[in-house]
Amino acid sequence: MGDAVESTAASAPGKCILFGEHAVVYGQPAVAVAIEQRLTVTMTPASSWSVDGSPLNSKKHPHIMMLKEALMSKDTPMALRVSGDIPNASGLGSSAALSAAVGAAMHHLSAEHEALDNDRLSALAHLAEAHAQNGRASPMDASTSVEGGVVLLSNQREERGDWLYTRRLATPEGERTWEVHALPAAADDIYLVLGNTGVHAPTARQVAMVANALSAEPHRMQEIKAIGTVARRGIEALIRGDYEAVGHAMSENHLLLRNLGVSSPELEDLIQAATPTSLGVKLTGAGGGGCMVALTRDPKTTSEAIELAGGRVLISRLGNAGVRLDSQS
Ligand code: MEV
Repeated sequence: MGDAVESTAASAPGKCILFGEHAVVYGQPAVAVAIEQRLTVTMTPASSWSVDGSPLNSKKHPHIMMLKEALMSKDTPMALRVSGDIPNASGLGSSAALSAAVGAAMHHLSAEHEALDNDRLSALAHLAEAHAQNGRASPMDASTSVEGGVVLLSNQREERGDWLYTRRLATPEGERTWEVHALPAAADDIYLVLGNTGVHAPTARQVAMVANALSAEPHRMQEIKAIGTVARRGIEALIRGDYEAVGHAMSENHLLLRNLGVSSPELEDLIQAATPTSLGVKLTGAGGGGCMVALTRDPKTTSEAIELAGGRVLISRLGNAGVRLDSQS
């Protein structure tokens, strides 16, 4: 076969944040779970680089461009096809899943015999997210998509989680450090029902809005710290397997996010509809639109309520597989 170039497919999960979005950008603890919904990328040798039939372009595909420069030692042109069931720009980590899957496929093509290195892959995916979010991005989405399962971020090493690695980033507000852990958490009869408002809200805009609010009114950092306190309570409950308490912490976390100004009328409608049949409800991700999440033992009734209120629904169990190579030919 010599140097013959092969096709490769890789997939990565989206994520749902249970506690701590926005506050995690400022070093507070947060937890995300990998969801069942995945993004798949196939890469096939071609005469020039393309993504779903359009030429690869640094403005349209900044994540892919960055990964190509970091991972493809030889510039062997590839046609990329992206598919899957993670809605775009909806708070479910579709861009990190794209980075994770593209990174895994590129790594395989250029370093076939080396094992996939999750630490390096998630670091690259984090840098791609940071680039897209004007330098303000936690490693939450990237690490959850790469590692799968349940991921805990904190500004300190936590005894309760399995420590994976440290991430550092120079943000406009100074250098940040996150300790990334895997959390053991599994539950057979608990579901996440994700309700999509259909309103696209760019993460960069939402993150910048919070940064502006904090710089105009520095005392509001108390609100960020309060999210951290609630997240800590939620993490303890998750480790104990006390899903009633997990739900309480999620709903409390939502009220703090709403005060911070990152909810929206559409999110509030879906949250209100899901509340009676859920253990807990909150927006998930950057907010302003996108998705809410309900933690429930009755996914059918909760889904129906969200759909009646105008939301599109996805159902997932907690903690799914991380990035993986799906096929090579
Ligand atoms: C986005 O999924 C979560 C935010 O906390 C941003 C970040 O962590 O980079 C809003």
